[in-house]
Amino acid sequence: MRLALREVTRCYPELTALDGVDLAVGDGESVALTGPSGSGKSTILHLAGGMDRPDRGGVEIDGEELTARRLDAHRRGTGFVFQRFHLLPALTALDNVLAPVLPRRVDFDRRERGMEMLAAVGLAERARALPSELSGGQRQRVAIARALVGRPRLLLADEPTGNLDSVTGRGIVDLLMNLREQFEMTMLLATHDAEVAASCDRIVRLQDGRIVADDVVAPAADALDRLGGYRP
Ligand SMILES: Nc1ncnc2c1ncn2[C@@H]1O[C@H](COP(=O)(O)OP(=O)(O)O)[C@@H](O)[C@H]1O
Ligand SMILES: [Mg+2]
Repeated sequence: MRLALREVTRCYPELTALDGVDLAVGDGESVALTGPSGSGKSTILHLAGGMDRPDRGGVEIDGEELTARRLDAHRRGTGFVFQRFHLLPALTALDNVLAPVLPRRVDFDRRERGMEMLAAVGLAERARALPSELSGGQRQRVAIARALVGRPRLLLADEPTGNLDSVTGRGIVDLLMNLREQFEMTMLLATHDAEVAASCDRIVRLQDGRIVADDVVAPAADALDRLGGYRP
């Protein structure tokens, strides 16, 4: 899925959260949003997922304006991962994964799909566990499986490692990157962590609601080795 924000402004009574943001994300690309707290990262994710609307400017999906009529379908085609997991404490891991598709008419077997997604995040054996019986990293894996259960083409992650230690966080980022490739998703990921940002194809830096830098991440040395050991 291609995604573009065109001259997007989002205002609150006291402040301008986004001020004329232009951002184009290619099909299958992963873009990290960085910048200080309050710089507008979450606001961009909400606009990209159709959970919020711009005051000026527009959002385009595959070159088409995201109009009010298209919002529901776009939200269904978008997966969202949060810093604080937001699992329902009374539900098992599998039921948490299935929650987004329960109210929907779907053309697949829900339980089968849910188990497939738990397997994709390495938690098939914990399907019946409650969130309280899982570690932080495992909870985030369940939340990722939930985000993927509707097979989204766009994955939005808001500080997905913000509540995890760095080793666990690294595992979550690697998992997100692998799943993005496996399921051919476009990805926007907000993070404070420079190492996490460097896992993406591109790093966009925000300050006071504006883009102040937009850099392609240099491929890692091991990726260059796979291309035949070329060194510039
Ligand atoms: N519902 C809201 N009402 C008023 N101000 C808001 C609201 N949501 C976000 N903001 C403000 O918009 C700015 C950008 O917020 P946000 O996108 O959450 O930043 P970030 O995710 O980079 O920390 C902040 O100053 C924040 O306080
Ligand atoms: Mg935020």
